[in-house]
Amino acid sequence: MKKLLLIPFMLLTVLSMAACTGGENKSFFPEQPETPEQPDEGDDNNPDTPTPGGNRRYLVLYASRTSNTERVAQQIQVTLDCDLLEVEPQTPYDNDYNAMLERSQEELATIRQGNYPPVKTTMDNFDKYDIIFVGYPIWYGSMATPMQTFLHEHTSKLAGKQIALFATSGSSGISSSASEARNLCPDANFVNQTLLLTSSTLPQMETRVTEWLDKIGIEKKEPETPEVSSLDVNIIVGNRTITATMEDNAAAQDFLSRLPLEVTLNDYNNITEKIFYPNPTLTTEGVTRGCTPAPGDITIYAPWGNVAIFCKNWSHSNDLIKIGRINGNGIEALNIAGDIPAKFERK
Ligand SMILES: Cc1cc2nc3c(=O)[nH]c(=O)nc-3n(C[C@H](O)[C@H](O)[C@H](O)COP(=O)(O)O)c2cc1C
Repeated sequence: MKKLLLIPFMLLTVLSMAACTGGENKSFFPEQPETPEQPDEGDDNNPDTPTPGGNRRYLVLYASRTSNTERVAQQIQVTLDCDLLEVEPQTPYDNDYNAMLERSQEELATIRQGNYPPVKTTMDNFDKYDIIFVGYPIWYGSMATPMQTFLHEHTSKLAGKQIALFATSGSSGISSSASEARNLCPDANFVNQTLLLTSSTLPQMETRVTEWLDKIGIEKKEPETPEVSSLDVNIIVGNRTITATMEDNAAAQDFLSRLPLEVTLNDYNNITEKIFYPNPTLTTEGVTRGCTPAPGDITIYAPWGNVAIFCKNWSHSNDLIKIGRINGNGIEALNIAGDIPAKFERK
């Protein structure tokens, strides 16, 4: 039986070699993996939800039996920080290599009759994706059957979508399977350049993927620069503007979130402090307490909830929370007896 199976297989191999592109003219014969890999069962609870990336414009769909295509898919996913979904057969492939070959041939034959072997992966829609990367291993010159089924079952949903094909193989080319993909999704728009990694080019996967993405003009994910909101504020007192730098703690952030803020600064303790009462009081939860105030320090006196800007040195208090400091000698503008109208605004 096995010998009989090998004859059409070898014929197919020869045929697939004829379809090789890119000068990959080594003869191919699938080798039995030393350790047959267990099929990845995936997340049984929610098999059809892509693993989300930061960039939700791209989806990488892939089928893979021995992880080669999976590695390429993951490389694309990491490079673009995009969504990833494995297309899995309804029944996992046998670990017995010959049984697997037999089944794959049978499946390819049934596909030629128009019957597609079931897969357990489905997608509701692809609406949010600009480009869908579709990756698969080459089986006997063809697209591996699970991906053929998936494309067949999602033909209408993929209509009008951009599809970029990638594949791995021992040595065969991708062109026959690319034609299959076009036939399976006649209304999709296929990116002209495909990516094929063979057993000899797979070790250069990282470079090849980057080059390919560049070539097809995919916008890579920019490293996320967290929005740094400035800690700098202006304090307008009369016709003078002084500046202060707030601390990076929750109380200071709460204060910053309320700007612009107009207040009246009152004297406290013979102009040791100029104070005002924010309403509501500023959050102090989780903020380190304790401060030995120096002129220019902006603090909260936690028991009363007032903001105290120190004009003079004062002794340490565990109830004071520092939320900022007036820059330079700007405190001089506040070191005046009486009520002072002041406006705090972001710089
Ligand atoms: C059933 C079967 C058929 C294959 N047919 C071919 C082929 O025609 N040409 C080729 O170059 N490689 C062929 N291969 C090798 C695979 O394409 C190659 O190992 C691929 O990288 C496997 O991808 P995967 O690890 O993602 O499953 C075949 C492998 C299997 C299991």
